[in-house]
Amino acid sequence: MTTAKDRSTARTLADIFPMLGLIITAGPLTLRAITDDDLAALCDLAEEGIHPAEQMPFAFPWTDAPAGELARNTVQYHWRVRAGFTPAAWSLQLGVWRDGELVGTQGIETSNFLVTRTGETGSWLGRRFQGRGIGTAMRQAICAFAFDHLEATELTSGAFLDNPASLAVSRKVGYTENGVVRMQRRPGELALNRHLVLRPPQLVRGPDPIEVDGLPAFRAAIGLDPASGPDSAR
Ligand SMILES: CC(C)(COP(=O)(O)OP(=O)(O)OC[C@H]1O[C@@H](n2cnc3c(N)ncnc32)[C@H](O)[C@@H]1OP(=O)(O)O)[C@@H](O)C(=O)NCCC(=O)NCCS
Repeated sequence: MTTAKDRSTARTLADIFPMLGLIITAGPLTLRAITDDDLAALCDLAEEGIHPAEQMPFAFPWTDAPAGELARNTVQYHWRVRAGFTPAAWSLQLGVWRDGELVGTQGIETSNFLVTRTGETGSWLGRRFQGRGIGTAMRQAICAFAFDHLEATELTSGAFLDNPASLAVSRKVGYTENGVVRMQRRPGELALNRHLVLRPPQLVRGPDPIEVDGLPAFRAAIGLDPASGPDSAR
């Protein structure tokens, strides 16, 4: 076993926890882990607004929290997601930067991925960055990553029927409709949520091919390439 004393260079957190070293680029977009240094900027973006107050695109209405509380909840959510990351159940919630500016998040969440080979995508952008094609491009990037580099067999998504932008992104990226479910959205409010499914041949790719850094270590971390020793994911 390699000990700290044997190592010629100090390890980084990404060496220990590979999702922190994963970087997906697609033209002007960069998708990478949200570090503690990014969280305050992400909270500012969320508190500036993601949707009109009377609407609610999220199944859990986290954006209804008042400012301050919303920021704390956002920080705790990202810490929780990171802390709960295991090969059996992982949620990869990446920040999205466009030309170096933080614009939102793009996630993929799954359990028992080695068996199911499926994952649910979810995303949001700060309002001032919406309607410019970024949502489509970041979804295309995460789907290409999951199919090309993680050997996913399908991806799913869901959007309320009164969220035309999200439904339009799913349609443009190639997802097909997979039923409608009745959900409670805000307390006491019924909302219809359309399920969507995408398989590799249907993916409509973006104009910019993706490039991935940190892939071998990330694949090992989710159990795709069995690790051969304690430091093999490095
Ligand atoms: C959903 C979201 C990520 C999409 O990102 P985006 O950058 O705004 O989307 P794009 O600009 O790539 O594409 C939006 C598409 O929706 C269409 N659209 C937007 N509003 C629409 C409306 N009211 N009716 C019909 N189509 C609409 C646009 O015309 C565009 O399609 P087009 O390029 O064919 O014209 C973003 O709007 C967002 O963060 N919304 C709030 C949070 C959210 O809804 N998250 C998803 C939860 S399921």
